[in-house]
Amino acid sequence: MYIQCILIFVFSFICCDSFTIYKKSDHQIAESESVLDPNGDLSIKWRVNYSIKKIHFEVRLSEKAPSVNWFALGFSDRGDFENADLCLVWTDYNDIDHFEDMHSDEKGKLLRDANQNCDAFHVNAKGRCLTFERYFDTCDDNDYVIEDGTVHIIWARGTDKLFSAKGLCLNCTSPHDHGFIRVRLLTPTGISQEKAEELSITNKNLKVPSSDTTYWCKVVKLPEFVTEKVHHIIRVRNGKQILQASVFLVVGNEGLVHHMEVFYCDSDPQQEIPLYEGNCFAPDRPETTKVCSKVKAAWAMGAPPFVYPKEAGLPLGGRAANKYVMLEVHYNNPEVKDDWIDSSGITLHLTANRREYDAAIMELGLEYTDKMAIPGGQHAFPLTGYCIPQCTGVGLPKQGIVVFGSQLHTHLTGVAVWTRHFRQGIELPVLNRDVHYSTHFQEIRILHRHVRVLPGDYLMTTCLYNTIGKENATIGGHAITDEMCVNYMHYYPATELEVCKSAVSNAALEKYFKFEKRWNNMPISYKASPRANYLSIKPWTPLRTNTLDMLYSESPISMQCNKSDGNRFQGDWEGIDIPKIKRPLKPVLRQCPSY
Ligand SMILES: *[C@@H]1O[C@H](CO)[C@@H](O)[C@H](O)[C@H]1NC(C)=O
Ligand SMILES: *[C@@H]1O[C@H](CO)[C@@H](O)[C@H](O)[C@H]1NC(C)=O
Ligand SMILES: *[C@@H]1O[C@H](CO)[C@@H](O)[C@H](O)[C@H]1NC(C)=O
Ligand SMILES: *[C@@H]1O[C@H](CO)[C@@H](O)[C@H](O)[C@H]1NC(C)=O
Repeated sequence: MYIQCILIFVFSFICCDSFTIYKKSDHQIAESESVLDPNGDLSIKWRVNYSIKKIHFEVRLSEKAPSVNWFALGFSDRGDFENADLCLVWTDYNDIDHFEDMHSDEKGKLLRDANQNCDAFHVNAKGRCLTFERYFDTCDDNDYVIEDGTVHIIWARGTDKLFSAKGLCLNCTSPHDHGFIRVRLLTPTGISQEKAEELSITNKNLKVPSSDTTYWCKVVKLPEFVTEKVHHIIRVRNGKQILQASVFLVVGNEGLVHHMEVFYCDSDPQQEIPLYEGNCFAPDRPETTKVCSKVKAAWAMGAPPFVYPKEAGLPLGGRAANKYVMLEVHYNNPEVKDDWIDSSGITLHLTANRREYDAAIMELGLEYTDKMAIPGGQHAFPLTGYCIPQCTGVGLPKQGIVVFGSQLHTHLTGVAVWTRHFRQGIELPVLNRDVHYSTHFQEIRILHRHVRVLPGDYLMTTCLYNTIGKENATIGGHAITDEMCVNYMHYYPATELEVCKSAVSNAALEKYFKFEKRWNNMPISYKASPRANYLSIKPWTPLRTNTLDMLYSESPISMQCNKSDGNRFQGDWEGIDIPKIKRPLKPVLRQCPSY
């Protein structure tokens, strides 16, 4: 049967409504959805069965979606159409449907896998949807391994009549007919029914600027019930799921809103903040709104509601706090449409009945400093920030803290981030890891298991950066063109320790610059900033790159072991040796018959 025949506008029970059954149950069954294309014509839902490590996918075409003769959905490392893994459905000239597990070669042409791993393929003509199942790891070298973290889902469709799917080129189709999204497939879904006040912080009928990327900022004053009494944020979600109506994420705009954050304006309780609304990078954005930078809530495309564990909530408001927060929405408008009206926002669920513990956020990773740099021309250069036993020792309570969420953060060149956890030199399971990290998809992620971090534990956050095509070094710093390496850990109970980050020690860095000047004749100046000196080093030969890598992985470090009031914990935090690893974690073996 033609997939074209699918395009009858009736929804089916078998396929498209199957998810609602699970919504009503109390079981922790992961189910999520996202939109595939900027027009919102194609959507994807998935349900994860963790016990058998398998995902059930459902792609739905809206009634507006054009007819197609073939449709492919799959995975690749970075959203590329080369070296990708795909499940394809196509209709031949005899109107017979074919379902095939394919992969693309380095030129983007499709080939059939020797092992077929797109299971339970099903096209539902009336429901205009397509379902199939995939194991996380099919043990087939032609298939992508689905891990916790960012997954790039690629899709393509076409009206071409095919005799065979071999050689099909997915991105030879028009730009409207292929694309990719980033999602976290293995996202835990928390279901919490506790009653809460809803506070929606949204844009109102905003005419979205017709540019590729817009960061829109809007400062709002918190309502009196919040400014009068400290509340706990217990859930965070995008507005759409609260009101089905068009008030929030306007239907069809789902692909447009990339991510949103609510920042607390960390200032005097009495300080008035101007109610600025406009481009976040506009020159006329008032300087005083820059204090609105403490993340209280975040949502990213495809993310389910963020639900706090039942014993904790994030404090907001009260008389001792500033009365303002700022919403920031990242609009993604690659087709540069000028007729988009949007009212997206974030809904906070607040309770005045504060829970047992205050949640808080702790920063791990690298200091925001130009003491660290990434050479140009690198595929995957690592930088590592340390949270050492001396700092967790003075900063954490005896019983430790419980980490339940994590938001990984780099700027444009970051491609992977992870945090390893050690106790007395012995490595414990990884705290969070994303090996397909993208700066464009920075959710606060609920961890699959709560991690207790004790005083004396040691956390090591590594980021990999891709600087292919750059000649100069990329320097650590605040600008979007600079780099960062951060893991914002969400945990309870709140402690004084807010920043546990490192950088290479000053003495080691001076020695390095001396070496580059004396032995490599680089135009280094001892009076210049590290930034200027790093920029003067070129070309970044493999030898020089190696020397820098060794400097960072072997030299003593300086620590920022800081309290939430901005002061350092007492002690000497300069020139400390990197803690030793006595026993690293054993690699997890793939569960494959042939291994
Ligand atoms: C997972 O799959 C197994 C085997 O098919 C099934 O028995 C079980 O009910 C499934 N679990 C969920 C949560 O769907
Ligand atoms: C296919 O994608 C690659 C990059 O992923 C690009 O270089 C190439 O030009 C694309 N081909 C077409 C026909 O768009
Ligand atoms: C590299 O840095 C130098 C300054 O040291 C600057 O003049 C040059 O334009 C930079 N090159 C690129 C490609 O950005
Ligand atoms: C940590 O504390 C030091 C000393 O008070 C300060 O200079 C530094 O900026 C602080 N760092 C952060 C990230 O707050």
